[in-house]
Amino acid sequence: AARNKEDLRSPICCILGHVDTGKTKLLDKIRQTNVQEGEAGGITQQIGATYFPVDAIKTKTADGKQEYKIPGLLVIDTPGHESFTNLRSRGSSLCNIAILVVDIMHGLEPQTLESLRLLRDRKTPFIVALNKIDRMYGWQPTPDNDFQSSLAKQSRAVQREFEDRTQKTILAFAEQGLNAVLYYDNKNFARNVSLVPTSAITGEGVPDMIMLLVNLTQERMSDRLMYLSELECTVLEVKVIEGLGTTIDISAYVHHKEVKAALGVKIVAPDLEKAIAGSRLLVVGPDDDEDELMDEVMSD
Ligand code: GTP
Ligand code: MG
Ligand code: NA
Repeated sequence: AARNKEDLRSPICCILGHVDTGKTKLLDKIRQTNVQEGEAGGITQQIGATYFPVDAIKTKTADGKQEYKIPGLLVIDTPGHESFTNLRSRGSSLCNIAILVVDIMHGLEPQTLESLRLLRDRKTPFIVALNKIDRMYGWQPTPDNDFQSSLAKQSRAVQREFEDRTQKTILAFAEQGLNAVLYYDNKNFARNVSLVPTSAITGEGVPDMIMLLVNLTQERMSDRLMYLSELECTVLEVKVIEGLGTTIDISAYVHHKEVKAALGVKIVAPDLEKAIAGSRLLVVGPDDDEDELMDEVMSD
């Protein structure tokens, strides 16, 4: 495929954070779904991928001036429960960019710090969603509003609580050696981590978060988002679907003749019972030795 700065593939974005900070709920808000309430004990136990085509993103951001160069965004949800370090590690290894979700009422928690380590080890750019702003006492919601105009409508006491909690979070990030700033004060995306206040319940700040992701990927990562001709693929999930047998991977069943990069794809094929989530997917070409490639996958 051609390598062209104007022809970018969809970035892969991973959502990481401590348990119950609202990762799945934020995705539910964007998708207009209700996955979170269907989860056992409200706990995510697997990696899930959702593809947002650019047209779906546009309807969520409501800014006519925004220019879109990416065809869409593939978002990977991960569990925050402490026992799923392996899934967080797998999710973060797949992504170009990440959203680290922090509960504004709790600040940085153990799995926030673990997620931070994963992101720094892989030098993955990320933004921080300071979620659950609606839980601040006296918060008056304006559904799906942009954050700054919502904040302007709050009482002085709520604004002060917000400033207080934000300062504490900034301090906690500083203790981890990171410069965190509210995204609208961020003048240097390469040096500072952007904080975007959100509520997955009222939708406030969610348009800001999406805009920030789109801008960050387009401005800072276009080199890494140009199409590559080699396949880079990982098995996310192995599951049995009636009528299809054992399938691998995720998302709704759509029949494709050809797929362009960064899509969640469901594969139906014989012998998939033996597929293992987390392993790589390789393509056997005419000049390849199948046994050699098999050894390569097994060595992971
Ligand atoms: P794990 O995947 O299990 O780590 O949790 P999660 O980070 O995906 O959090 P989840 O979406 O399961 O939300 C946890 C709880 O917090 C649920 O009861 C949500 O309804 C609630 N919640 C999430 N976001 C918000 C928010 O912005 N405001 C309020 N008030 N509650 C929220
Ligand atoms: Mg979840
Ligand atoms: Na949860």
